[in-house]
Amino acid sequence: MNELKKIQNVELKGKTVLIRVDHNVVKKGRIIDPYRIDASLPTISYIIEQGAKLVLMSHIGRPKDKKTGKIELADNTSAAPIVEYLKAKGVRIEAAVIPAAGEYGIEHLDVQKITSSLNNADLDAVYLPNTRWFKGEEAKDENKEIFGKELSMLADIFVNDAFGSWQPHASTIIPAQLLPAYAGLLMQKEVEHLDAVLNPRRPFVAIVAGSKFDTKIEPLSALLQSADHLILGGVIYNAYLCARYGVQIEGVSEQDRQSAQKFVQLAEKYPGKVIEPRFIIESDSLEGRFEGKFRTLDISTLTKGDKLNYILDVAKASFQEKRVQQIFSGAGTFFINAVMGLTPHFTEGTIALDKQIAANQEAVKLFGGGDTLQEFNTLLPEFYQQALLDNSYYFFTGGGTILKAISEGSAWGLEPVKALML
Ligand code: 3PG
Ligand code: MG
Repeated sequence: MNELKKIQNVELKGKTVLIRVDHNVVKKGRIIDPYRIDASLPTISYIIEQGAKLVLMSHIGRPKDKKTGKIELADNTSAAPIVEYLKAKGVRIEAAVIPAAGEYGIEHLDVQKITSSLNNADLDAVYLPNTRWFKGEEAKDENKEIFGKELSMLADIFVNDAFGSWQPHASTIIPAQLLPAYAGLLMQKEVEHLDAVLNPRRPFVAIVAGSKFDTKIEPLSALLQSADHLILGGVIYNAYLCARYGVQIEGVSEQDRQSAQKFVQLAEKYPGKVIEPRFIIESDSLEGRFEGKFRTLDISTLTKGDKLNYILDVAKASFQEKRVQQIFSGAGTFFINAVMGLTPHFTEGTIALDKQIAANQEAVKLFGGGDTLQEFNTLLPEFYQQALLDNSYYFFTGGGTILKAISEGSAWGLEPVKALML
């Protein structure tokens, strides 16, 4: 049987624990929704209560330029706001000194300095700089091993609580190979809840939106099989509309249209599964919702060859259609990894969606992903607070991780999870 090595099963007293978390919640230097930090607090407190010291690390944003490979240590990808947040929560923590960096990121950790700072009796934890500021984090050459090795030298034990960080990077993989490695409390809880997505109570309604079709094609194809109804939003839906109705939409890349074409062909084998939000919002500007510059379109009037301007949201009228309402009220499980419109100006689709889901009190409601949760919290703060207390809701800290698990049909193939198995 597949089982995780659990942190509860190891003696922590007097040890130093290196913990990988997913605190990727800083946007433009600010924390908008601290949910993912809060979700990791039980593990952090547990380790401290057991009498161990902690070295924490997370990735923040994507500071590496994909084309040039250069890494910028900018304020907007700094861990500093997270450290302040943890201090405010009562964790006796400080930020590790940031080592000098070249154009391609930080080359080495100052292992000595970090270990000795933990000798300070007033301190329980040190927070490392953004893991993606290090040259080795996303490297595919020996730098990956070098960074992973230095990380491992900081501690006696490795704990992974970063459910959202499914990519096999140095910090999620190498310490698990070099140190005794365990799943944190959050990781355990998330993997358990994945079962509700992979073996859902039916009917199962999945709502997925996002900015790129090509990275979502696999999970969307898997959802065509496993979900009873699939609703798309965001750029993904635009690409789908282009492929399905032969229209052109401003801003949809040829690559996304082609990926969508494959999906549309596959979807033909599952008639009626894809529920198309019927009303969409066309805007002449990406910058805002300006009077006279946006309008609602009905997709049933689309004709092949039509050229549309930017489509920036799904209109709330889409969720008021009788057929859609019946599907929502009859659903047994919802999985939502979706922000329907271009924030901050085009929000009616997401608001209508989240409200419609809330109206089905019996259904299991599984929300996944940083942006999905952040927008739920920002747009519907009262619903969000209620949902936190409501057992029919569950908030996953990772959206990409769930999509990856859906593509593979299980969580156990994810590299960072595999590294924690018994
Ligand atoms: C997220 O916020 O989606 C996770 O932290 C993963 O981030 P990544 O997609 O940049 O790896
Ligand atoms: Mg994401």
